[in-house]
Amino acid sequence: MNKKKINVYSLIKREVEKLKKIGNKTASLDCRLLLSQILKKTNTVYTHQEVYISRNQIIKFKSLVKKREEGKPVSRILNRRNFWKREFILDEETLDPRPDSEILIETVLEHFSDSTPLLKILDLGSGSGCLGLSLLEEYENASIIFVDASKKSLNIVKRNSQQFRLKGRLKYINLDWHTDDWDTKLLNSADKTKFDIIVTNPPYIPSNEVKFLETEVREYDPILALDGGNDGLDAYRSIIPKLKNLLKPDGKIFVEIGKGQENLVSKIGLENGLLSVEYKKDLSNINRVIVFNIK
Ligand SMILES: C[S@@+](CC[C@H](N)C(=O)[O-])C[C@H]1O[C@@H](n2cnc3c(N)ncnc32)[C@H](O)[C@@H]1O
Repeated sequence: MNKKKINVYSLIKREVEKLKKIGNKTASLDCRLLLSQILKKTNTVYTHQEVYISRNQIIKFKSLVKKREEGKPVSRILNRRNFWKREFILDEETLDPRPDSEILIETVLEHFSDSTPLLKILDLGSGSGCLGLSLLEEYENASIIFVDASKKSLNIVKRNSQQFRLKGRLKYINLDWHTDDWDTKLLNSADKTKFDIIVTNPPYIPSNEVKFLETEVREYDPILALDGGNDGLDAYRSIIPKLKNLLKPDGKIFVEIGKGQENLVSKIGLENGLLSVEYKKDLSNINRVIVFNIK
């Protein structure tokens, strides 16, 4: 196919203007990301760069910008999102990983600073696998169990683990933490060994607030990953009472929470034999992660 050498700036200029007109504040970056995908570049193209592109590819690029214009997030158009040190594959059943959740990874690394022990990790509500797989890369001898109610999202974790070449130290368990005996089922699949590290970022948005979320979240993130029931705390009430049973005596639990939920979630912990030993703030100065020990 005939390809012409073109400067990126001239290629994206009109499309950037279209996106800016509708209030898009990352118009240039969005266009460059979409163009990079079309050109199959591993790095994002720069505005001043020269690229070789065919007529067909230009048409495809414009059709992707059109989707962006219609409100679809770039991560959902590309089905990819950077998190921690990697680019994760997504699909419609996985939450688009949030930069704030990287605080959880940082907190685990502070509490478990040696990268070599044979740690056992549990990722409850794994979505794309962004938390668990990032930890698995940091702890060379760790093994992990991913749990999610969505079978499709567990397949995405599998695909991500394959692209990062992290096979072998992983298990995937499809279960619903709102059932009574989910902890027993989990321990049975884990050869009855308890965990050193448990991480979870459960759905925590109160049901009646979901409709007020930004369109990009409300329309493209799966409701199962967002809706935390009436007061947003349903998942914590199902998960936390079982955690003491799943954790080794000197293990630690790292829980992501929504804005203003720290006292309520700590209280659920306290009522179930867990002590909150640290709150960790996100970049907006909101308490985002609670660390629990066994009391
Ligand atoms: C907020 S998302 C977090 C995804 C991922 N860990 C992250 O941080 O991007 C919550 C995850 O919990 C899963 N989930 C929701 N309700 C569940 C339930 N009752 N049992 C098991 N998993 C559930 C969802 O499918 C979703 O993947």
